[in-house]
Amino acid sequence: MARVRLGRVYHFSAAHRLHSPHLSDAENVALYRDCNNPGGHGHNYILELLVKGEMDPALGMVMDVGELDRIVKERVLDRLDHQFIAHLAPEAPISTSESVTYVIWSWLTDTLPAGVLLHRVHLEETRSNFVDYHGEDHPGKASA
Ligand code: NI
Repeated sequence: MARVRLGRVYHFSAAHRLHSPHLSDAENVALYRDCNNPGGHGHNYILELLVKGEMDPALGMVMDVGELDRIVKERVLDRLDHQFIAHLAPEAPISTSESVTYVIWSWLTDTLPAGVLLHRVHLEETRSNFVDYHGEDHPGKASA
């Protein structure tokens, strides 16, 4: 049966401030510039997901998009939308686009129905700034 990738787009708005505890205040300003302003600032994020799996011949789909929407709402949107996003995860504490994308992957990757895998998380912070994450390429981990 056909192995198909299914895409879905979501939107959320959130505020953040880029500030590394590993840098001095002056170094933070030099690196992050306006994004280090103490009051923070907001973005209207666009989140594109790709999941992959065998198309069920009886249903003609990889998975029910309503179920995907429910999972994404519960695992991602309810935690980020209209929030000040900081300290997202110990391994990604600074809320850059890279960190937010990685954290969204980690929140979703083990939540999909049996036989369905997360293929790509694509996050647009602005029209000119986006990040793609496909997970780590560990041997034995499906990434076809
Ligand atoms: Ni920003």
